[in-house]
Amino acid sequence: MTFKIIGTGSYVPPLAVTNDDLAKYIDTSDEWIVQRVGVKKRHICTTETAADLAYEAAKLALENGNTRVEDLDMIICATVSGEDISPAVSCSVQERLGATCPAMDINAACSAFIFMLETAAGYFARKKVKKVLVIGAERMSRIMDWSDRSICVIFGDGAGAVLLSEGDNYISSKLNTQGGDDVIKIPNFMGSSPFYKNEQIKPYIHMKGQETFKFAVNAMCKDITEVIEEAGITPEEVDHVIPHQANIRIIDAAKKRLNIPPERFHSNIESYGNTSAASIPILIDELNRAGRIKKDDILALAAFGGGLSSGACILRW
Ligand code: UT7
Repeated sequence: MTFKIIGTGSYVPPLAVTNDDLAKYIDTSDEWIVQRVGVKKRHICTTETAADLAYEAAKLALENGNTRVEDLDMIICATVSGEDISPAVSCSVQERLGATCPAMDINAACSAFIFMLETAAGYFARKKVKKVLVIGAERMSRIMDWSDRSICVIFGDGAGAVLLSEGDNYISSKLNTQGGDDVIKIPNFMGSSPFYKNEQIKPYIHMKGQETFKFAVNAMCKDITEVIEEAGITPEEVDHVIPHQANIRIIDAAKKRLNIPPERFHSNIESYGNTSAASIPILIDELNRAGRIKKDDILALAAFGGGLSSGACILRW
């Protein structure tokens, strides 16, 4: 026993910021951002918190899955950009939904959606849960240095949620960690201990773009190949590839390397930028609501990012 997805939801803050808007503040251009990253606009919080976005996406997923809050057995949320270390975003969502089930956050940066599904699968296998809400929610705009043009043009804010119910549709999975802070690091605040001696690092995203890019392409291709093999299917049997939306060139590179027909790779990075843990569930919600995923379709999900971490899975819809 694992699970099936019975509902999806997503929410982004209303303010849409175009590349031309950004070019008013920093030395960049629409042309550079579209060519090098594939983003045309992103949504940015003005008053909303990561928990606000998560709550809105959660409500929509429950509605879409025709499920009452009282039937939830667990809420799992992932974020690297929540306002509070405690309470966790999942706990804020639990309170605001009026749920009584346990709630916890998982930190696996941009790979977290896959890590959350794998965690949920364990609870289903042990028959501890019947309904689980899984949410990725990010206010990346809070943790970006807005004067760093190699970072602030990439990311966006948003949340995506899926509602899981008992089923046998989670077919294969793989998680990887290659620990280290040299390539991607998001430092927390340093505190004010008069005894602490380490150098203060700005609490923003620090990323070596090209190294991350290489890691991302290799990890995504290796992970997808392995989960396809573990599922006992052929690449041609994959109906939808739903990759983490970090850079359109990463997705294009994977298309060339994998033997999956290229039209089956989905992307919405041009409208949202990289929303880290939220990017896959936002894209799933869009495809679901557009009626583009049919019953029994095979989905390959793949993500990569800070940790360094990566993961992939095969799901039947
Ligand atoms: O989700 C977490 C995982 N993250 C990722 O997967 C991100 C992976 N990496 C990337 O997506 C890309 O490496 C970036 C988008 C971050 C950068 O693209 P790049 O093609 O690797 O550019 P670069 O860093 O090699 O910079 C090329 C040039 C530089 O100028 P010079 O030194 O050649 O004169 C940069 O200063 O582009 C310049 N540049 C910009 N120019 C205009 C960097 N950012 C910008 C910008 N606008 N926003």
